[in-house]
Amino acid sequence: MTTSILFVCLGNICRSPAAEGVLRAKSRARGMKLFIESAGTGAWHVGDPPDVRMIKAAVQRGYDLSYLRARKIEQSDFYAFDYLLAMDLTNQTDLLSIGPPDRTCDIRLFLDFAEGETRETPDPYSGGADGFAHVLDLIEKGAEGFLDHLEDESE
Ligand code: 4NP
Repeated sequence: MTTSILFVCLGNICRSPAAEGVLRAKSRARGMKLFIESAGTGAWHVGDPPDVRMIKAAVQRGYDLSYLRARKIEQSDFYAFDYLLAMDLTNQTDLLSIGPPDRTCDIRLFLDFAEGETRETPDPYSGGADGFAHVLDLIEKGAEGFLDHLEDESE
């Protein structure tokens, strides 16, 4: 069965769409078939493409995020996906509190799959351009770690 992953951040215009695009590219490169989406806990940007600063930072590394559109997390997501991967601890706490008690997904902090000390992907929205590159560095490491985890599980 295809493993399904939903990345979750606050606005779904910076961190989680970047994680979606990076994991999609890296999983394809490894020949892995995954179903990947992203969503926000907030609804301010529903229907919007990713932040233009994130689109630009990602395209420099070969990831196209321009086709993505923001959406808000729904109750059905807690049953439809195998993994809900939170970008920071607040996102994870929010998911644990809004999710139904009989949810069937695993709610995890994304960077816990990376080998590093950083557990949270910082919100780059109010910062400068270097914040977006830093977020992509963390996401690329997290994506490799998460794919290693899936490969280990399937052995
Ligand atoms: P994201 O960043 O959660 O990584 O998409 C944000 C985008 C927008 C807002 C906050 C964070 N906002 O408050 O509009």
